[in-house]
Amino acid sequence: MAAAARHGDRVPGNLAKVRKRYLERFVTPETVALEIGSGGGRWTRYLLPAHEVIVVELNSDFFPYLEKRFPESAHKFRFVETPGYEIPDVENDSVDFVFSFGTFVHIDPEGIDEYLGEIRRVLRPGSVASIQYGDRTKKYFARRERIELFSDMNAPQMEGFVKGHAFELVEHDRKTLNHSNVVLLRKPA
Ligand SMILES: C[S@@+](CC[C@H](N)C(=O)[O-])C[C@H]1O[C@@H](n2cnc3c(N)ncnc32)[C@H](O)[C@@H]1O
Repeated sequence: MAAAARHGDRVPGNLAKVRKRYLERFVTPETVALEIGSGGGRWTRYLLPAHEVIVVELNSDFFPYLEKRFPESAHKFRFVETPGYEIPDVENDSVDFVFSFGTFVHIDPEGIDEYLGEIRRVLRPGSVASIQYGDRTKKYFARRERIELFSDMNAPQMEGFVKGHAFELVEHDRKTLNHSNVVLLRKPA
């Protein structure tokens, strides 16, 4: 039985598909990966086959937590505390893959726009980013009381930002998740 059928709409959708299609295929032992908003490492663990994992977090308390949780991979981590929507101390054109899940859903449109500029700056030309963000036009929100926890984003707005930063929109997945979408972006080579 599908997860959504088992748990109702408490699950946000097909997370196994997100992992396969938007994360794992971009991670090799040579990859410099960067995650925005790791939290406790729910998705970080799938980035660990990479050569280096740069973790960008608002809350630096997660840094020692991740080192403890993944001791075998602790040498791969580079931790970056962000003041908001910046990626300080990460060089231009130095990252092979950017991933974010569960974070942009809470960031205001202006912050998302700013972060996309930073993601474009740090990505190597030809490399990709998988970004999940909230979509307040989805049916999921019609009867939700805690809608204010999700930023006021939608798909056309995201496509406007993507265009504004001159990314190639490789894929815009509006079906897999029930309160959010995933964009797969490429920085032109
Ligand atoms: C809901 S948690 C999701 C954590 C993890 N990605 C997951 O899916 O379980 C959101 C995380 O994003 C971090 N965060 C919130 N705003 C951020 C920002 N502007 N930049 C980086 N991290 C941020 C929070 O500290 C928190 O760890």
